[in-house]
Amino acid sequence: VDLGLLRQNADLVSALVGPKVGLLAVVKADAYGHGALACARALEKKVFGFGVSLVEEGVELRRGGIEAPIVVLGSFYGLSHRDVVAYRLTPVVSDVADLERFARAADELASPRVPFHLKIDTGMSRLGIRPEGVGDFVDRARRISGVELTGICTHLGEADGDDGAFALAQLARFDEVRAGLAAGGVRPALAHAANSAALVRFPEARYDLVRPGLLLYGHAPAHAALAGLRPVLSLRSRIVSLRQVPAGTRISYAGLFTTARATTVATVPVGYADGYSRRLSGRAEVLVAGRRAAVLGAITMDMMMVDVTGLSAQLGDEVVLLGAQGQERISAEDLAAWSGTIPWEIFCGVSKRVPRVYVGERA
Ligand SMILES: Cc1ncc(COP(=O)(O)O)c(C=O)c1O
Repeated sequence: VDLGLLRQNADLVSALVGPKVGLLAVVKADAYGHGALACARALEKKVFGFGVSLVEEGVELRRGGIEAPIVVLGSFYGLSHRDVVAYRLTPVVSDVADLERFARAADELASPRVPFHLKIDTGMSRLGIRPEGVGDFVDRARRISGVELTGICTHLGEADGDDGAFALAQLARFDEVRAGLAAGGVRPALAHAANSAALVRFPEARYDLVRPGLLLYGHAPAHAALAGLRPVLSLRSRIVSLRQVPAGTRISYAGLFTTARATTVATVPVGYADGYSRRLSGRAEVLVAGRRAAVLGAITMDMMMVDVTGLSAQLGDEVVLLGAQGQERISAEDLAAWSGTIPWEIFCGVSKRVPRVYVGERA
């Protein structure tokens, strides 16, 4: 995980949106598998704050010494209202009942008023108050003295879709809600709506804060190219076993693959328990000696086999599953295409038993 590249990517996003727009760096899901605390420490001086999904993720950052604002995007709180207050997290709220609980927790902990951001459902149908319910929500929220509306936000469902019309319609609804509130004298200090795709593609979605995730990690969503972006994470292993087998040899479980020629087979100790999906069986390529090499047969829980015939590979040689080696590169898009998913899931899928090795920690 190259934290220097993470910082560079953040600089590119900042340069694009300009000095008046802050970055709420999305580091939920352990910073998409990159390591939330390491990434937050690397970015803290460059960003307004951090977006997490869960209260526990916010607590981890505070305990690790992060002082910047931490916004809990997930917006469900269970029994965690006291933690939100005690760790000075900023909750995104879609239910008035939560405000009462935050106010009670603030009272018990003798804390100042709890700042919160109101989530508006403009079309994603996942979280948030629908526009017609916002007036009632705000009236009720005003009567709860222990909380303070400091932000308003929404989330776009199709910002990277081929047709931008739905995203623009969502933004229009968001603007209507904000105008309605302003007419009643309610002007939250912060508005935010844009994920990576939206912040590149729709300047009108930038408001006060943008919420990039994927872009920071060095990948542009569809329709949202950003020159200079560099992938932050690579996944590397080594050959732990090598064998020569004749034509007609079955490789791995379930007889999914039989060699058609004499083959040099390398075993690589990465399997689906590490997040290298079994759906990549027989489809993926890795890099060995700067060349692309095919994955043979079924990916097993802890290992996979690779065809290194003619590559003069040695025991202990590096194998790149994601990232560059020589002139070649395996991208998250490649892995996503081979396994029928999206780059976000590739990153989040790298499991916790894979050691994260950081470079570029010093700015
Ligand atoms: C509410 C919210 N905002 C922002 C993001 C960041 O999205 P992206 O990684 O596409 O930038 C996400 C990610 O899923 C999200 O759920």
